[in-house]
Amino acid sequence: IPPSRIRNFSIVAHIDHGKSTLADRILEHTGALKEALDKASSQYLDKLKVEKERGITVKAQTASIVHHVGGLPYLLNLVDTPGHVDFTYEVSRSLSACEGCLLLVDATQGIQAQTVSNCLLALEENLEIISVVNKIDMPAANPEEVTKQIEDVFGLGGEGDAALRVSAKTGQGVPELLDAVVHRIAPPETDREERPFKALIFDAHHDQFRGVVCLCRVIDGKISRGDKIASCGTKTELEVLELGLMCPEPTRTDKLEGGQIGYLVTGMKKTADIRIGDTLHKADQPVEALAGFKPIKSMCFGGIFPSSTDEYESLKKAIEKLTLNDSSVVVHRESSQALGPGFRCGFLGLLHMEVFLQRLEEEFAQSVIATKPFVPLKVIDGEMREKEILSPGDWDEVDWGRSTRVMEPIVLATIVCPNEFTGKVIQLCHDHRGHQVDHSALGSQRVMLRYNLPLPELAGDFYDSLKGCTSGYATLEYEDAGHQDADLVKLDIRVNGETVDSLSQVVPRVNSYKTGKSVVSKMKNLLDRQVFEVALQAVIGNKIIARETISAMRKNVLAKCYGGDVSRKKKLLAKQKEGKKRLKRLGSVSVPVDVFPALLK
Ligand code: GTP
Repeated sequence: IPPSRIRNFSIVAHIDHGKSTLADRILEHTGALKEALDKASSQYLDKLKVEKERGITVKAQTASIVHHVGGLPYLLNLVDTPGHVDFTYEVSRSLSACEGCLLLVDATQGIQAQTVSNCLLALEENLEIISVVNKIDMPAANPEEVTKQIEDVFGLGGEGDAALRVSAKTGQGVPELLDAVVHRIAPPETDREERPFKALIFDAHHDQFRGVVCLCRVIDGKISRGDKIASCGTKTELEVLELGLMCPEPTRTDKLEGGQIGYLVTGMKKTADIRIGDTLHKADQPVEALAGFKPIKSMCFGGIFPSSTDEYESLKKAIEKLTLNDSSVVVHRESSQALGPGFRCGFLGLLHMEVFLQRLEEEFAQSVIATKPFVPLKVIDGEMREKEILSPGDWDEVDWGRSTRVMEPIVLATIVCPNEFTGKVIQLCHDHRGHQVDHSALGSQRVMLRYNLPLPELAGDFYDSLKGCTSGYATLEYEDAGHQDADLVKLDIRVNGETVDSLSQVVPRVNSYKTGKSVVSKMKNLLDRQVFEVALQAVIGNKIIARETISAMRKNVLAKCYGGDVSRKKKLLAKQKEGKKRLKRLGSVSVPVDVFPALLK
């Protein structure tokens, strides 16, 4: 198929607005999905179990289909993008592999926070945007209102540019939608003959038979099996062992040519060996790298420990397996006094970390203790030297001279909610050190608020509070907005005079007393059934800012046995011993392992 009959596009939408359902309908309509249907359950593009449960698409996946217009076959390449902002970089690379995108909006929900941020990304990539109003089969659908919102907010719509109306569920409007993709989205500009092979890697995953499978958009030239390639970022020479199209399963072809989207297998074992956004070229024909490449940047770190020390090895294996498929997770070893040996992992964002932990538990049956996510801070000393703090432990290693400054990352958050909750949301943002950037109406029912917020504030209970104070109606999305100076202190917790490393945190100075008090009082409640007297203290520097004492309440398990029955006594003692295995040490005090998640929250 010549480039003039290729269309590369993706779908961007807010969570649950129907992206996966529409993708399924598109593949079904062209017949490509038929064979595959037997293999998989209803939602083909969301492979991973966690994705299904949480209803989110974590890794981008892609499929090629054929659609006829005017009797001619067109090759339509649908590039699926990850749904959440943690993966903004991956979304932007997927979008840059396309000439156009479908902006999908639920006719019962209207524009939501993610619709805004995803549409802005698509505009940045200069894509042709086709707005699509979905779920028109639902009684509560209000396509007129939603169409007007799209016009008002994004300036999309009008002659030849009108929003399409579809039901991804019933398939209504989907054939017209595919026609619009052919008519409105430009074919790829490419030179297959004169220019050397050049391709953008926009996704990669690990396949147990093929090793690393790279998805790429061929910009110019062509590539065949057996060719030697390299990338601008890594320079390693690799042989192309297999290539082809995603249908949506990888299907072999002889070559890939300019304008096409397909996959490449080179015998690489780990996805960490390649980088999304990198440029591929023939080993003997170097090309200029494509713009937009960025190295991995961890936005939050979390300590991950096995709940019992003898599970360390199996946790290590599970983490290795998971990172095989997700090279954006950075893994360091770490050892904690309280929790023993474990790992400190860096993630692209908070949801990314949550999904990773959930997969460890569900797919690898690991029972882990995770520390609260820590957002890396920047420390700049008097001579403008920069140092990163990746955990509260690093704080003590800084030489806190008088001109040393600490900076925290901030984000631009977009919040959409019904009008009546505006006051509560503004108050919440204010309480989390937010600064308002924008406040505008989205039609007559909803408002869009934009705030600069310190990222560490989002690492706590911000999202839950936002949902709580808006009866679940608010939606939130955020993007990186640089760093700002911050006045922070390290808060330590001492148990019977000993600092417990895993309970230390870095907090804003203004809230430090309040936080210290609430931490020790929460601990008192959680540890109340301790057998010994325990002193809890919250400490900043050397100053004790809060304290609680748990009084002694010696439990004598043998007392119940009236001193008589020896075998019963033995049984009880054995039971108690068993229980001790599941204890972790908090300084001089043993604490049941199941208290830890609540303690660390
Ligand atoms: P993420 O993968 O989380 O981004 O969600 P998504 O945007 O892919 O949404 P998904 O396709 O999973 O759809 C969300 C819910 O809406 C599902 O329960 C769908 O069955 C339903 N849905 C999607 N499209 C339609 C539609 O046109 N009409 C109706 N009635 N329901 C729909």
